[in-house]
Amino acid sequence: MITPAYPAARPRRLRRTPWVRRLVRETNLTVDDLIWPIFVIEGTNRAEPVPSMPGVERLTIDRAVRAAEEAAALGIPCIELFPNTDPALKTCDCREAWNPENLVCRATRAIKQAVPEIGVMLDVALDPYNADGHDGIVCDGVIHNDRSLDALVRQTLVQAEAGADILGPSDMMDGRVGAMRAALEREGHCDVLIMTYAAKYASCFFSPFRDAVGSGGALKGDKKTYQMDPGNGSESLRETAMDIAEGADMLMVKPGLPYLDVIRRIKEAFDAPVFAYNVSGEYSMIKAAAQAGWLDGERAMMESLAAFKRAGCDGVLTYFAPDAARVLARERQRG
Ligand code: PBG
Repeated sequence: MITPAYPAARPRRLRRTPWVRRLVRETNLTVDDLIWPIFVIEGTNRAEPVPSMPGVERLTIDRAVRAAEEAAALGIPCIELFPNTDPALKTCDCREAWNPENLVCRATRAIKQAVPEIGVMLDVALDPYNADGHDGIVCDGVIHNDRSLDALVRQTLVQAEAGADILGPSDMMDGRVGAMRAALEREGHCDVLIMTYAAKYASCFFSPFRDAVGSGGALKGDKKTYQMDPGNGSESLRETAMDIAEGADMLMVKPGLPYLDVIRRIKEAFDAPVFAYNVSGEYSMIKAAAQAGWLDGERAMMESLAAFKRAGCDGVLTYFAPDAARVLARERQRG
């Protein structure tokens, strides 16, 4: 790289005015990059605030349909649905996960019917349905990989049947992408996309999410035997290579902001779309600081979403999606 020395080079020339800054900006966030995660509850016409996620509400299916309409009107391409399951339905075999009438399947059908133009993504993991709060089946205190795969395949098929466009295996069991892909092919769901949680870390930043779906209280122990160790970077490449070989279409890193280096490494190593999950704890930190008056919440939101694009992401799952979409629309109008 040849860079002339000062004063031939004055990098500030490229920053002098808004128009030139726009002209040379290397990455731009657009509404096309956003996936909006939404929490669903039973009932009608109700919205319940999630205390640890200011501004986020759990929605009954009819309200979730309205949220999907709002997302479509804002130009958001895709939403992801997470069920807050009645604790009475949580069992050790997780059978509610493959009940075709479960909350998330009903919500998916309602949304696909009312707003067919929006993509619907669903998680594939057992934690919303597990009496132990884990993402896999627990046998004698151990998370049993291959029994979990059988359950995940059943969940995959009811969710595909309900109309999910993207399935996101978030459980980190070994071999789950291959098991899901084979089952989808066998049952004629060859168009269902898999966005694998390729590198998902055993993170403390998920705790507001666990409040939102009501899985935190149930969790016995931690998820360190299946989610990755935060100290590991190279391992994310091996995990990702396996998921691609098994049939994943899109890759995801989670959490997002503390793992931008992992995003960059995966983007450079693999020729596939890469997404980040800007998780609940990342959202709540910005909201809390903004509420305390310590940060400009809107600017912190836009700056962190821009960081994902700079790191190499094709898109971001974020609870900020509708707010960010509104800011982007406003900025576009202003020019
Ligand atoms: C479930 C799942 C989790 C998240 C997405 N899917 C929690 C977990 O693994 O414990 C976290 C999302 C967030 O924190 O916003 N497997």
